[in-house]
Amino acid sequence: MSKQRVLTGITTSGTPHLGNYVGAIRPAIEASRSGDFESFFFLADYHSLIKSQDPEMVHRSTMEIAATWLALGLDPDKVTFYRQSDIPEIPELTWFLTCMTAKGLMNRAHAYKGAVQTNEEQGEDADHGINMGLFSYPILMAADILMFNAHKIPVGRDQIQHVEMARDVAQRFNHHYGEHFVLPAAVVDDKVAVLQGLDGRKMSKSYGNTIPLFLGEKQLKKHINKIKTNLLEPGEPKDPDSSAVFQIWKAFATETQTAAMREQFANGIAWGEAKKQLFELVNSQLADARERYETLIQDPAEIEKILQQGAEKARTESQELIAKVRQAVGIRPLV
Ligand code: TRP
Repeated sequence: MSKQRVLTGITTSGTPHLGNYVGAIRPAIEASRSGDFESFFFLADYHSLIKSQDPEMVHRSTMEIAATWLALGLDPDKVTFYRQSDIPEIPELTWFLTCMTAKGLMNRAHAYKGAVQTNEEQGEDADHGINMGLFSYPILMAADILMFNAHKIPVGRDQIQHVEMARDVAQRFNHHYGEHFVLPAAVVDDKVAVLQGLDGRKMSKSYGNTIPLFLGEKQLKKHINKIKTNLLEPGEPKDPDSSAVFQIWKAFATETQTAAMREQFANGIAWGEAKKQLFELVNSQLADARERYETLIQDPAEIEKILQQGAEKARTESQELIAKVRQAVGIRPLV
């Protein structure tokens, strides 16, 4: 039997943060190293245009995210690593899938529903500020996934619904046009799927509460010191499970280290001390990668070369698939 395929993408609309690392990049790279899977990783730059109309930001972020994955040990010879916009078959497949997607399904997407709800709460028109990219974003994501017949999609919890939608759309397409697509499933790492940010909410660029992944040591320390805590004094027992400091600790620590920190919380560790230990743990795990990152960022031509090689590899598959799909839907030469 051929190996299972793992595929994931990161939207290029910001600087990678600890939440991206823990929730997506780290598990994906680990899976690719195990050799048990065939891995596809890509920069979702088309997706970034839904939220960011700042060209410099989109461009810069693409470079930062590519450098991040490579610095963290992604081996482009062992995986297929590419940029979404280098694969013209993806937007083409998006259209074929769009015509197989019920509008009602898209009405139920959390990201869209959330935006409508915010508008209603603020007394705005329901559609205020919502572009069609946001509305149909799950279809573009479905094309990313179905294009390469991926089985497993490592994602954060907020993306599970999108993977399920990709599955629905695939099923509908297969039912109507014949079996072309593998049905994908989301994989969520229960231990570390969602990291809390500085304010205790989910770490997310949309909340502005992130800790960027490759800050210099001083800046990293500064950010960790900004994590919100309560007013309990040193010596007073603290609740680890409601603490962002502890949650981030847990995402980087071994089980033994986590148990030890839990005990320190029970024994009333001072917030300052807990943060100092957290800084040391995170810093020690990221220091080497940070150095590789700095080197790569100085050499965009090298990164571009790696992406072009990835696109070439990916397109041997996407061209083959799109040819079959065109055929299946009736878009083919007349004779
Ligand atoms: N929408 C995902 C996010 O915001 C990124 C993404 C785009 C993705 N296409 C994908 C993730 C395909 C997994 C598979 O995090």
